[in-house]
Amino acid sequence: MGFSILRTNDELRHWRNAQKFDLYFVPTMGALHKGHSELIKAAHNFDEAKPISVLTSVFVNPLQFAPGEDFKKYPRNFQKDCKVAQESGSSAIWSPSIQDIFPENEKSLSKTNARDNLASSLCGLSRPGHFEGVVNVVERLLTLVKPEVLVLGEKDWQQLLIIRELIKDLKLPLKVRGVKTFREKDGLAFSSRNSYLTAKERQKALAIPRLLAQAEKEFKSSKKIKLQEWRKRLNQEGLEVEYLELVDPWTLQTAQKSHTISLLAAAVKCGKTRLIDHKFLMERKPIVAIDGPAGAGKSTVTKIFAKKVGLLYLDTGAMYRAVTWFIQQKGIDPKNKNEVKDAIQMLQLELNLNQSGSQSILVDGKDVSEDIRSQSISNIVSEIAKQEAVRKVLTTHQKSLGINGGLVAEGRDIGSTVFPDAELKIFLTATTKERARRRYEDLKNRGYTHDSIEEIETQIRQRDEIDRTREISPLIKSHDAIELVTDGMNIEKVVDSIADLFKEKVPQEVWPSN
Ligand code: PAF
Repeated sequence: MGFSILRTNDELRHWRNAQKFDLYFVPTMGALHKGHSELIKAAHNFDEAKPISVLTSVFVNPLQFAPGEDFKKYPRNFQKDCKVAQESGSSAIWSPSIQDIFPENEKSLSKTNARDNLASSLCGLSRPGHFEGVVNVVERLLTLVKPEVLVLGEKDWQQLLIIRELIKDLKLPLKVRGVKTFREKDGLAFSSRNSYLTAKERQKALAIPRLLAQAEKEFKSSKKIKLQEWRKRLNQEGLEVEYLELVDPWTLQTAQKSHTISLLAAAVKCGKTRLIDHKFLMERKPIVAIDGPAGAGKSTVTKIFAKKVGLLYLDTGAMYRAVTWFIQQKGIDPKNKNEVKDAIQMLQLELNLNQSGSQSILVDGKDVSEDIRSQSISNIVSEIAKQEAVRKVLTTHQKSLGINGGLVAEGRDIGSTVFPDAELKIFLTATTKERARRRYEDLKNRGYTHDSIEEIETQIRQRDEIDRTREISPLIKSHDAIELVTDGMNIEKVVDSIADLFKEKVPQEVWPSN
């Protein structure tokens, strides 16, 4: 694979125009180390099996240094940067001049502001103007590079959040991928500024990851963090604490009890060197909730998505179908609530979730995973699923399956009732016509006797109506769910869209595959 060294904007433009594959862009300030090298490598692994181009830029941006900060002495070693970029899999390195990035008399250069709610806390407090400098250079770099994907490290989590917001605000058509923090063998997070540390200071700096890990342990056992004490401990190790805060990772506001992921973020001075580090504290592994009406393709999509990101797959609809199968076998009238209620007290429902994305469901020891998919079950499942006694039993069962997280659950009320604190909520839907078409094809392919498409469409409408208007856990889109209308999208596209949302919402540092 060739490797290009680009200097001017013209060289960049020529090179960019010649790229045939999606361009993944890794902006840096140079002094490339193992952390950067992992960012470049990660770019190749995000969307497996697809050839891509990777561009690494090296530009020490004066705007993001306050007077008195280390702009002048920031480490610069372009030769080494070229070597690291090439060896890690970059297709090119681009090192523009200040004039290329911020040409004088360039009127078209707008001044962008960082979102104040995100930029004014943590690092923003002691580095006024820093994030303004970052967003202005990133906007300019993106305008010149026009990448399909921007790759940034989670090490600078606050910066990553601010840049994501910038891209949303500017409506730029690109994806942002965050890459987990990489550490030296002894735990110190890779940073270009580590090179400022003397041997003695470097030893001292190890107290940061060590104490953060200990604080995490405290959190795991007591669900609390005594911040003041940990600040004191850092000070005792000879580190001057600028901040140590426990915040919500997406708003950066003080973490609330209800948050299942919080960010313990620290900035300290070790000698004259400012270092930052963090830990995501988890009460459980992440949960994804996928709700939506019948026939929107939830099962197929969720199964593939689960496998892709290493989550267990929980199909709650199958549980309602299994109860329906059980009631049908017993010859009970599904409308007879009392008999249904009595019968389910005897039900032995067993669910086996496994890492391959499949799920088997057993009723009284019999595997009914296939039988529950028949049209006769589809026709009465809503009748059973709207009954309070049934929902109570199954919701409790589902909550207990999700106690440690690490799963993606699909159903009608997952985001609203079962896992209201899921990290990502999707409302997957499609028009009634499209859902009827899919159901018809599915039944045909499985060899079941089936009604006409028109009849199936009518049944779907009726079922939607029952699901939407039932008193208990009606089918509703949670206020915080993202709606995905899948008409015209194939399965791969839907799975990719959900995986993209997951990668945006859940830090890579806490992905189950880590
Ligand atoms: O993280 C960095 O290296 C810089 O802040 C960035 C994103 C390259 C902008 O100068």
